Amino acid sequence: MNAPHTEPFLTLQEIVAAARRNLAPGPWSYLVGGAETETTVRRNRQALDSIAFRPRVLRDVSSIDSSADFFDKKIRLPVMLAPIGGLESIVEGGAASAARGAAQFGVPLMLSSVCQPGLEATAAAADSVRVFQLYVRGGDAWVDDHVKRALDHGYAAFCLTVDVAMYSRRERDLIGRFVKPWRATAPAGSNFQSGLSWDQVKRFKDKHGVPLVLKGIATVEDAEIAVQHGVEVVYVSNHGGRQLDHGLGSASVLPQIVAAVGGRAEVWVDGGFMRGTDVVKAIALGAKTVGLGRLPCLGLAAAGAPGLVRALEILENEIQTCLGLLGVTSFAELTPRHVTAAAPVAEPGVFSAFPLLGDPADH
Ligand SMILES: Cc1cc2nc3c(=O)[nH]c(=O)nc-3n(C[C@H](O)[C@H](O)[C@H](O)COP(=O)(O)O)c2cc1C
Repeated sequence: MNAPHTEPFLTLQEIVAAARRNLAPGPWSYLVGGAETETTVRRNRQALDSIAFRPRVLRDVSSIDSSADFFDKKIRLPVMLAPIGGLESIVEGGAASAARGAAQFGVPLMLSSVCQPGLEATAAAADSVRVFQLYVRGGDAWVDDHVKRALDHGYAAFCLTVDVAMYSRRERDLIGRFVKPWRATAPAGSNFQSGLSWDQVKRFKDKHGVPLVLKGIATVEDAEIAVQHGVEVVYVSNHGGRQLDHGLGSASVLPQIVAAVGGRAEVWVDGGFMRGTDVVKAIALGAKTVGLGRLPCLGLAAAGAPGLVRALEILENEIQTCLGLLGVTSFAELTPRHVTAAAPVAEPGVFSAFPLLGDPADH
């Protein structure tokens, strides 16, 4: 499925092109697609493209440190592999390959509960910094069992994804008749997490001491409720535009949520982050960690774990170039004064961050 890593990729654009060549139409559409009109997908990019930089000069940037903290661990960049269900349809070895790449490069992996080879085998595959993300498909005892297994296998935190009350209409998958391996075994007619409420978050916090991440917060109102429940991380996300269509871009709601949370929890963000400049924008606006969804998958699809490592190396190069050109030597020196609003110059799309290739979705 994935070509050996023979190409010396110099740009992320080449990695996207290689991924496109390697993936069959079904997995490709599953990876790149969003819900219904894919307006939320486009807004994620539009929000990032609506932020411009305000560079400062003559500040001796001869030595740049782009590392960050993740709970009590040092990581190489303030980014994390966001949870991806069904990675096994994108790369041989599924999450085990992702874990190997993440560990080799030095960034955390959040493992989806609907990804093979599962919680234990992924932990055994590589000693990556890791978080476990659960889709709640059982009762309290079932959830508690997953928490125990995650803690027993070195996961540093637990995540509930909360933007999936219903499973959305992914029209690329529907038109292509692509059935995700893990959806094929879901109970017929199941409405995903429609029964979940803040009561379960309260129960979780009362029962478990593990840091809790709530992924899929998109409003200041819910960020406030999350903080009141004592969650450690408010993860701003619209699921990469794959759940509710016609939402706002993540980067456009980030500043208000950072302000509302006011340091009472960490704020993480994802949605459309494809470039080093995107990551720098989020950190300048107050995010602690940026989740990468499709980008690592493209690296994995291009060339397996080495392809993921290469994608992250290029991202690191982009980030360090951006930091230096902004006149800062570390993320700690970045402030909201380094960014400002600006009109986007490109038509937003899932691949608008890679303009030299045209739109690989059309290929
Ligand atoms: C193929 C694919 C599968 C995903 N599966 C999950 C999942 O199992 N659990 C989850 O919380 N989010 C899932 N997501 C959402 C990502 O974790 C993340 O929120 C999103 O991809 C970020 O946007 P980006 O792809 O534009 O970076 C998935 C995303 C993709 C692209």
